[in-house]
Amino acid sequence: MCGIVGYVGKREALPILLDGIKNLEYRGYDSAGILVVDSKGKLSLAKSVGKISNLEKKITNQNFSGSWGIVHSRWATHGGVTEANAHPHCDCSKNIWLVHNGIIENFQELKEALLKRGHHFRSQTDTEVIAHLIEEIKKEKGLSLKEAVPLALKKIQGTYGLVILDRREPHLLVAARNFSPLLIGVGNQENIVASDVAAILSHTRKVVYLNDREYALITPQDFEIFNLDSQPISWRVQEIDWDLKAAKKEGFPHFMLKEIFSQPQSLEDSLRGRLLIEEGNAKLGGLERIKETLRKINRLYLVGCGTAYFAAKVGEYMLEEYAQIPTKAEIGSEFRYKKPVFLKGDALVAISQSGETADTLAAVREAKEKGVLTLGIVNVVGSSIARQTDAGVYQHIGPEISVASTKAFTSQIAILALLTLFLGRQRNLSLVMGKRIAQELSKIPSLVKKVLSQADLIKNLANKYAGYKNFLFLGRKYNFPVACEGALKLKEISYVHAEGIGSGEMKHGTIAMIDKNFPSIVLAFQDSVYEKNLSNIQEIKARQGKVIALATQGDKKIKKIADDVIYLPKTLEMLMPILAVIPLQLFAYYFAVLKGLDVDHPRNLAKSVTVE
Ligand code: AGP
Repeated sequence: MCGIVGYVGKREALPILLDGIKNLEYRGYDSAGILVVDSKGKLSLAKSVGKISNLEKKITNQNFSGSWGIVHSRWATHGGVTEANAHPHCDCSKNIWLVHNGIIENFQELKEALLKRGHHFRSQTDTEVIAHLIEEIKKEKGLSLKEAVPLALKKIQGTYGLVILDRREPHLLVAARNFSPLLIGVGNQENIVASDVAAILSHTRKVVYLNDREYALITPQDFEIFNLDSQPISWRVQEIDWDLKAAKKEGFPHFMLKEIFSQPQSLEDSLRGRLLIEEGNAKLGGLERIKETLRKINRLYLVGCGTAYFAAKVGEYMLEEYAQIPTKAEIGSEFRYKKPVFLKGDALVAISQSGETADTLAAVREAKEKGVLTLGIVNVVGSSIARQTDAGVYQHIGPEISVASTKAFTSQIAILALLTLFLGRQRNLSLVMGKRIAQELSKIPSLVKKVLSQADLIKNLANKYAGYKNFLFLGRKYNFPVACEGALKLKEISYVHAEGIGSGEMKHGTIAMIDKNFPSIVLAFQDSVYEKNLSNIQEIKARQGKVIALATQGDKKIKKIADDVIYLPKTLEMLMPILAVIPLQLFAYYFAVLKGLDVDHPRNLAKSVTVE
């Protein structure tokens, strides 16, 4: 949600901080602030509501010199979108400054106690409390910043990614993390701390991730990491192979279109080295060491939010049909609060592109609490879910920048297919069927390329249907979750009402909405439920509803009843969701562009929902 960058080193901090925070704009934010401190402790501070460009305007013609500083993009959780609430926040003396990502759950009681001690607050945020708490501890005990911070953190309940400085202690940043991502970009005589690797890639690819309840002391020459008892923690440098260019648009008008068209490549990357076609199996390095444990599991929970949940739903069908393991897809925010009955032999798979979605992470914690084996299907290396699950499979698709998730979804389905192969072949899935699935999976990237070649046709359809305000998406079995995902794509970037349901559900109420102003998109491939879907199309047409049908290449029948048809190549029913979602992604994209909307930064949304 919020973006954080801190710099301490030998170069001017301002350009590095601004470059870093601009690379985090995709995370969604509503205000920003920056602080640079020079060697004499002189502060240069600016805050603004809205885009980073507003902040830059404020800095122009000001002398923001200094090689030490912090910058923050805020996504409001406590307190309105105002300059006063923008970070960095400080203590009464304006010596201690900090930026924060997360939610301090006990900030009210801390604030009341600090008010009683005479502190005065300048904002309505939970964050500002931390600065005054550190000030109080420093003053009361005569401590340095590095001594006071861990004591203050022990009083805090909630989540944080924090970067703190005290102008009286030059060239020291204290970074601390609990549930909100934070990493150190290791440089040469300089260090950059950030909430996301995209902020540091133009300066270094060497990163060290902080873990929950750890803090780091960072200077230009060095850094040390400790737990909250101030015991040194060992760490290792990871080499990030994403260069910044990968995060740029590469000629596409929007990250979203770039990422839609990158899916042949991202699927190749997700499948690379993992398909054992001759053995009809999958090689998942991250699961090797628990292979025998996996042989014994007899129920799976697949947990995700939003698009990741719809991927989980596809996985549910796959794993039950081909691995014959009782499987349940669960919405993270529901799972964490219901009382799941875990049984011996259960396992939970968390699906999350960012690896930081709070509700999914909470589900992992709930399962771990109950001793349940937890796995992750995650894209961001070193993210919280990746590190807190017992094992997992990385998606390897590079940064997904657009808020609307596209390549992550198809990658997750491909990996769920690999998992189905892996677990199925440990059970009753035959070599013949395993080989069939593996072969079909290996063809998927090229089939996706074929579907993408119809982009212009889909753009024309978006144009043709641009005037409608409501859409119904219908699918059955493997394509029911795809219908839901197609509806979500349209909703989240074009803000029109869209609903995805199982086609069979239509007659149980939804059909009441259908008329000439309420078009439907029906996924009606020549599969095990084809005839049923044809009937649904007839029912819609009988009520003057318009129908865009997604159909199997060569199906002449459907052309006679649907208003428009998008033909897709044939593959296994279990893999059809990867192909079927592409036209829905493109339809949503072109529809939103036609409306002149900010496709990559949809209103009210953030890329990674790291708060409840
Ligand atoms: C999808 O387009 C949305 N941006 C959103 O539903 C997203 O899929 C969800 O927040 C889960 O994110 P994650 O995969 O990073 O956990």
